[in-house]
Amino acid sequence: MIEIVPVKPEDIAAVLEMERSIFSPPYSQTVLEQELTAPCAVFLSAKEDGRLAGYILLRALGDEAELHRIAVLPERRGRGLARRLLEEGVGACVKSGAETVWLEVRESNAPARALYERFGFTTEGVRKNYYVNPQEDAVIMAYRAPHRKEETPC
Ligand SMILES: CC(C)(COP(=O)(O)OP(=O)(O)OC[C@H]1O[C@@H](n2cnc3c(N)ncnc32)[C@H](O)[C@@H]1OP(=O)(O)O)[C@@H](O)C(=O)NCCC(=O)NCCS
Repeated sequence: MIEIVPVKPEDIAAVLEMERSIFSPPYSQTVLEQELTAPCAVFLSAKEDGRLAGYILLRALGDEAELHRIAVLPERRGRGLARRLLEEGVGACVKSGAETVWLEVRESNAPARALYERFGFTTEGVRKNYYVNPQEDAVIMAYRAPHRKEETPC
């Protein structure tokens, strides 16, 4: 059974392990622990039979939000987990007032770019040589929440 639930203190060790194997540089344990209680953070996990299979981290402030991380264990990819994490994470930001969700992604990261495009993110620009190790451009993408229907009397 797959469930999308908030990351809890006892999940941090597994998140840290994924950070270290997937991202360079990884977030530290201290940073991850701070995100558990940061008022603007949306930090969700995908649990499969109770075990961490992926996570998403966004920060929402006012009418804007930023996607900082999304990752799924290599052996659990291609089964819609990232899409579900995006739905719940972006949904939570929109619910709290975000109209636009921004992200940056390595130009060569085809799976992530396809995921974002499929979800409705559009390319807004490029930051030249934004990443190091290896040096690479960042593609800036944005998701614009559909306008809520005004409650107009008949
Ligand atoms: C990017 C990532 C999160 C996708 O996770 P996932 O659970 O495999 O993705 P999903 O199964 O939910 O796929 C959703 C959509 O994304 C796209 N997609 C995902 N993986 C893809 C791949 N390898 N090639 C092409 N498109 C892909 C597809 O459009 C897919 O929809 P479809 O299956 O209906 O065609 C995963 O590959 C990952 O953890 N990568 C390493 C971390 C990373 O790069 N994070 C993003 C930068 S912060």
